[in-house]
Formats: sequence, structure tokens, C-alpha cells
Amino acid sequence: MIIIHLFYLLLIFQTIVGDNRLIEVAQSPDYQWNGVALTKTNRIFAAFPRATGDVTLSVAEILSNNILKPYPGGDWNTFNPITSYDNPDKRFVNINAILTDTQNNLRVVDSGMVGNKTYVNGSKLIKINLTTNKVERIYSTSNLNAPPGFALNDVRIGSQYAFLTESGLGSVVIIDLESGQVRRVLDQHPSTKFAYPTVVRMEGRVVLDTSGKPKKMPNNNLELTPDETILYYKPSFSYNWFQISTNYLLDESMNEAQLGEKVSTSWKTMPTGGTTMDDQGFIYLMDLERQAIWQQSILDGSWKLIVRDERIIWGDASDVSQDGYLYVPMSQNNNIPSFNNGTNQVIKPFKMYKIKINSA
Ligand SMILES: *[C@@H]1O[C@H](CO)[C@@H](O)[C@H](O)[C@H]1NC(C)=O
Ligand SMILES: *[C@@H]1O[C@H](CO)[C@@H](O)[C@H](O)[C@H]1NC(C)=O
Ligand SMILES: *[C@@H]1O[C@H](CO)[C@@H](O)[C@H](O)[C@H]1NC(C)=O
Ligand SMILES: *[C@@H]1O[C@H](CO)[C@@H](O)[C@H](O)[C@H]1NC(C)=O
Repeated sequence: MIIIHLFYLLLIFQTIVGDNRLIEVAQSPDYQWNGVALTKTNRIFAAFPRATGDVTLSVAEILSNNILKPYPGGDWNTFNPITSYDNPDKRFVNINAILTDTQNNLRVVDSGMVGNKTYVNGSKLIKINLTTNKVERIYSTSNLNAPPGFALNDVRIGSQYAFLTESGLGSVVIIDLESGQVRRVLDQHPSTKFAYPTVVRMEGRVVLDTSGKPKKMPNNNLELTPDETILYYKPSFSYNWFQISTNYLLDESMNEAQLGEKVSTSWKTMPTGGTTMDDQGFIYLMDLERQAIWQQSILDGSWKLIVRDERIIWGDASDVSQDGYLYVPMSQNNNIPSFNNGTNQVIKPFKMYKIKINSA
């Protein structure tokens, strides 16, 4: 074990070079992106948060010739926190995640917050039918009456429930996709808060907030096993997954303390920008510090290196294509002011790459 850990540690200090298996697939000339979602027919969608400016696309379909077409169009993509901020319940306020489900819907997670400003009724999960390209349902979290700072982050979809991480204050949110009932759990539990130590180094610098303190990142990444029995989740900057059986999460008779007792510390990981699971249940970890991608087995937690490359600059929420490629957008979060001691060091365009993994 010691030898293995030393190997991982040494990787942090090694110089890294380009790997020609990592293939560029698209660019975003102006707007930061942090997520990709693919359909079975290889339509490609990207998610654009509103962290670096007032104007962004929020969600776009990537067409041929790298055309980024706002999706689904209409008023959904026209929100602007300075000039046009009415109807936040029917427009994209700040998109943090997108996902295609097995029923050919695009699921979109809107934090409803820009900077530290919460827009009333802006926090929601949106279902878009990919055949009609129309919004079919909006799941608002307004009924939670959550405290200011509440921010939906990412989602996994089961047959009846959506599970979401909430990264503003730290919690797990569960939405019944039929009834629309929304619950918030584990908001008192340490597993959903930022983990210590939170000192993360990327590209030779410590990731610092605007006041020069190590950046804190509450509950963020999550994965649901294919049989929907276990939910894994972790703050971006934590060194392990937490896990809980979904039976407990869905048991409304359990109070916060009882539920907290059912959380256990799970497989070792590393600070991650994003994660995704393939159809065989392997998790892909976007390793921030080593600028690498690992494949993790959920049978024994072991890691296998997929690729390490200097172009992997905050690999974020990825997806796996039908033809066996992992698509990874580079969000460069470590270069935006709120993660970089107030200084903007983004190098445009933002890039998206793919690498063959022989899974689907
Ligand atoms: C929100 O951010 C603005 C601008 O950075 C700041 O002036 C204000 O004090 C903040 N408000 C809260 C409640 O933190
Ligand atoms: C938020 O939504 C509720 C329920 O639909 C509605 O009654 C309320 O007026 C909305 N508030 C704002 C500020 O839009
Ligand atoms: C999407 O819309 C099509 C056409 O109306 C419909 O046949 C299909 O059932 C819808 N998909 C879902 C998942 O509801
Ligand atoms: C962060 O920025 C402040 C203000 O510009 C500066 O004094 C400080 O040295 C910076 N910290 C690091 C670790 O670069």
C-alpha cells in the first residue's frame, strides 16, 4: 500500500506531456463550460455556468463545425442578471449540470443563484424531451424554503427518483419524478460539508478563494449504482467517497440523525472536478491535482490510470458515448477569479476532449 501511495504522490511532481490518445472534439471561444451530455445518437450538449460573466449560453447543442446552438432556445437561454432577470422560474439562471437519461430526456440542473444572489423560484431541475426539444416538466425546489446559499449542483436519475448534490450549503436533495415532491436530507451531516485538508494545488498554485484562503467546496460529485441501491457522493476537494443505501435515503420515517448514522466513508479518491459512471459501473475520476483521469472499480475501489495530460485543466462533468469514448470538458475553474485568489488566468478557448475507454 505504501508503495502504491508513493506512486500516486510522485505523479503530482512529475512533468507531464501531451498524449495523442486525447482528441480535441470542440471549443467554446467565449463562455466557460463545465459539463457535457451525449445521446445514444451522439448529439452533444454542453453546460455553461454563469461564474465568469453576465452573458452565457447556459445550455447549448454542439453542432458540426463547432456551432454552439443555445438549447432549447426561446426565452430559456436569455436570462441576464443585469439586464433581464424576470421569470427566473422559466429561464436558465445558472446551470451547473446536464445529463441525458435512458428515456431520451435532457435533465438540466439550475442552481438559481448568481454569485451570492439567490433568485426566488430560480432553483430547479428541468426535463427536456430530446425528440420534441421542448421543456416537459420543471421541478422547483421552492417548497423547501431553503436558507440563502442553497445551490443545486449535480444530478443522477433513477427510475422514479432524481438524486442531487447541493453544494452551496452542503446537502442531498431527492426529487420524486412522478409526484414532484422535493426533500432535502443530510444538511447537518459532516459528509456533505467541505473536507479538511482543502489545500488543493493545480498547475503549481494553491486553489484560493478571492480572499486568498484555500477554497472550500461542499458536496458536489455523485454517482448512483446501475441497480440504484447505493448513492456515492463527495465534496470536490475530499479524498474519499461517502456512501449510503438509497433505501435509507427514501425512507421518510428516518430523521436527520438516524440517516446520518447510515452514511459510511467509502472508497479513497482525490480532489475531483467531475465524475461519471459507465454502463458497467466503473467510475471515471477527473483528478484535479495530477491533471489526470482514473477509472475506479466500485467492487474494490482500485484505480487504473486512463490518461494524464497537461491539457486536462480542471476536467469537469464528463459523459461516455455509445462508441466508447469518454468526453471531458475543461472548465479551467482553477483559473477563474473565485478559485484563483481573485485573478483571472483563463486561456480561451475552453476545450473539450475525448479519449477511447471501450465502455458505453
Ligand atoms: C454579495 O456580493 C456582493 C458583491 O461581491 C457584496 O457586496 C455583498 O456584501 C455580498 N452579500 C452577501 C450577503 O454576502
Ligand atoms: C414563486 O413561486 C410561487 C409558487 O408558484 C409563487 O406563488 C410566487 O409568487 C413566486 N415568487 C416569485 C418572486 O416569483
Ligand atoms: C417525447 O416526445 C415524444 C413525441 O411527443 C413522445 O413520443 C415521447 O414519449 C416523449 N418522451 C418522453 C420520455 O416522454
Ligand atoms: C493572493 O493575493 C493577495 C492580494 O493580491 C496577495 O497578497 C497574496 O500574496 C496572494 N497569495 C498567493 C498565495 O499568491
